[in-house]
Amino acid sequence: MLDERLLVPDFLYGTAWKEDRTAHLTELALRIGFRGIDTANQRRHYFEAGVGQGLAAAYAAGGVARPDLFLQTKFTYQRGQDHRLPYDPDADLSSQVAQSLASSLEHLGTDYIDSYVLHGPASASGWSNTDGEVWEAMCNERDAGRARFLGVSNVSPLHLQQMMAAHACGPTFVQNRCFARLNWDRDVRLFCQERKIRYQGFSLLTANADVLNDAWLIALAARTNATPAQVVFSFARSVGMLPVTGTSNAEHMRQDLSSRDLALAPEVVRAIESLAD
Ligand SMILES: NC(=O)c1ccc[n+]([C@@H]2O[C@H](COP(=O)([O-])OP(=O)(O)OC[C@H]3O[C@@H](n4cnc5c(N)ncnc54)[C@H](OP(=O)(O)O)[C@@H]3O)[C@@H](O)[C@H]2O)c1
Repeated sequence: MLDERLLVPDFLYGTAWKEDRTAHLTELALRIGFRGIDTANQRRHYFEAGVGQGLAAAYAAGGVARPDLFLQTKFTYQRGQDHRLPYDPDADLSSQVAQSLASSLEHLGTDYIDSYVLHGPASASGWSNTDGEVWEAMCNERDAGRARFLGVSNVSPLHLQQMMAAHACGPTFVQNRCFARLNWDRDVRLFCQERKIRYQGFSLLTANADVLNDAWLIALAARTNATPAQVVFSFARSVGMLPVTGTSNAEHMRQDLSSRDLALAPEVVRAIESLAD
């Protein structure tokens, strides 16, 4: 089996909620050094065509080319969208997946996506037949070469158990909002670790204001000449996560990337992991 770790950058730049600054911020993130981009064909929260404009500008400026990049986008059910749908809502789900992916390829100016993610299951209570139909369509897209890897987002351990039992084709990535109060999503992270699924954590900062304001963590950051945000990203990597950052600020982009140079001692990692206990 292909080891995706050889091909996946160790930080993803998230493009949600950037609207008309999306193209500029995507290009800036690439210029500053990000090589992984997370987006979605969900116009309500993302401007995927703007990401494509940023990519085109970066290619034209030189220094980065499509094969250097890891592009991730998502299929989003109609209930997660506004009126700007990337598919015919009357088409069957398999056709919606094909149409949404074709539209993503066009937006991003490419003929393959590195990671294609189901944005969230249809129901919070478990994996459904609807999800199964969509997932099989995504597997077909992967088999056809339009997506290299697949992922699933906003899932519980139950979703993952049911999904893995139902399909021969499993996810390479899980992307979840990572709350420190849930021990940084420990149950899902452990499930992923045991099955060699790569866990991507998002909203590591916005979901964890208490951690960023924690006196012990602030003192630790000061001692290590880092910011609390850098400590959180370094911690995330230390426990095996692939972190996603949503910054719109050039200095924060640099700080986020340089958190890769911050090494935390194992006992510090354990202490951060249990901050909510
Ligand atoms: N799968 C899903 O359902 C889903 C849902 C939500 C998000 N996502 C993905 O995850 C990405 C990130 O989400 P998010 O925006 O919630 O993540 P986030 O990185 O936790 O939050 C971004 C916030 O953190 C601040 N920030 C970033 N780096 C900083 C630093 N070094 N120091 C201080 N503040 C810093 C940013 O402010 P500045 O702009 O001022 O730096 C911004 O206010 C999204 O863009 C999207 O791609 C996925």
